[in-house]
Amino acid sequence: QGSPETLLITGGAGFIGSNFIHYILKKYPNYKVINLDSLTYAGNIENLKEVEANNYQFIKGDICDSNLIENVFSSFEPTYVINFAAESHVDRSIKDPQIFLKTNISGTQILLDACKRHWGSGSHEKKFLQVSTDEVYGSLGATGYFTEETPLAPNSPYSASKASADLYVRAYHETFGLNVNITRCSNNYGPYQFPEKLIPLMISNALEDKDLPIYGDGMNIRDWLYVEDHCSAIDLVLHQGTSGEIYNVGGYNEKANIEIVKIILKEMGKPTSLIKFVKDRLGHDKRYAIDASKIKDELGWEPTIMFEEGIRKTIGWYLQNQKWLDRVKSGEYAEYYHNMYIEK
Ligand code: NAD
Ligand code: DAU
Repeated sequence: QGSPETLLITGGAGFIGSNFIHYILKKYPNYKVINLDSLTYAGNIENLKEVEANNYQFIKGDICDSNLIENVFSSFEPTYVINFAAESHVDRSIKDPQIFLKTNISGTQILLDACKRHWGSGSHEKKFLQVSTDEVYGSLGATGYFTEETPLAPNSPYSASKASADLYVRAYHETFGLNVNITRCSNNYGPYQFPEKLIPLMISNALEDKDLPIYGDGMNIRDWLYVEDHCSAIDLVLHQGTSGEIYNVGGYNEKANIEIVKIILKEMGKPTSLIKFVKDRLGHDKRYAIDASKIKDELGWEPTIMFEEGIRKTIGWYLQNQKWLDRVKSGEYAEYYHNMYIEK
């Protein structure tokens, strides 16, 4: 029998997953953590190089490989499964949606099936937690917030795949009585984020005095949350969330993209002349904003790191980890960057 503290974390070599593993091992040093990650372009075990705990184990593998998943469940009998594994970048989903269906939808269903086989129904000591996104709700106008009751209206192939996965999670709860939660968080930023995403891309380009590409007029709005605050929300939902419930997670920190870029340039002492407005993203969602009152009222969660502090910490981390940045920017990513911003 697995101990009650065995966590199977999928996608733990990516941005949020690796931050979560650091967070969870520090907070619960007695937990056993299995990190299953296929190491796509976005996965990097270097993110976890300081983790030496003998209660941590990395397995290179794909969540779509049902035989492997069965073996992992039989060997470790996890109590909690937290699914971070995903194709996560909207622009890539516009160029090539297929892999998003495979990993984000099929992969999630394969994990759910393993939970169902091993846990049976009504087992409330075991839980599957799906790390989802506010993008499943679509786009907001100038006012209003996404609540857990907002209808799903995903606009990109990425968000369509995440919304589909959420519906499978719901279905396994309703049909098979699986103990599940879904968290839907806004945009994260912080250490270890791959430099294809807005904030690390802008820091990375500013460091090299390269153009900072802003889509459209730069007035699209996102709600930014420091990654550690997302980790604490997942921790709370995992341990205290009501079975079958969805919890929105957000920073109450809405900013237009142009504002974000100007803050980064100011903080780094670089000129605004580096800003370059480029062709807009297809189907570019105008505004995301989260109403996080449910998780606050039910579980007492609130963001703790204000944007001014978080962005300073983040820039500081990238400045101190330029070798990490250089390494992840080589190879496949160099080709992606060229196709996305140079040849376009
Ligand atoms: P990321 O792209 O940095 O990491 C994804 C990880 O999943 C990588 O390590 C990758 O190797 C792994 N992976 C991909 N396909 C896999 C497969 N088939 N099998 C096993 N591993 C696989 O993503 P992230 O930004 O850390 O996001 C993590 C999760 O959080 C995703 O599910 C994403 O949808 C969700 N999310 C992200 C944000 C955000 O702002 N980044 C906000 C809300 C929700
Ligand atoms: O809201 C949560 C989502 O946030 C997560 O589910 C996704 O996994 C994550 O990638 C993120 O999606 P976004 O599309 O919001 O993030 P991204 O960093 O790609 O873009 C943020 C905003 O910045 C968006 O309006 C597009 C814009 N942008 C992005 C890039 C990469 C630019 O203007 N220029 C760029 O070069």
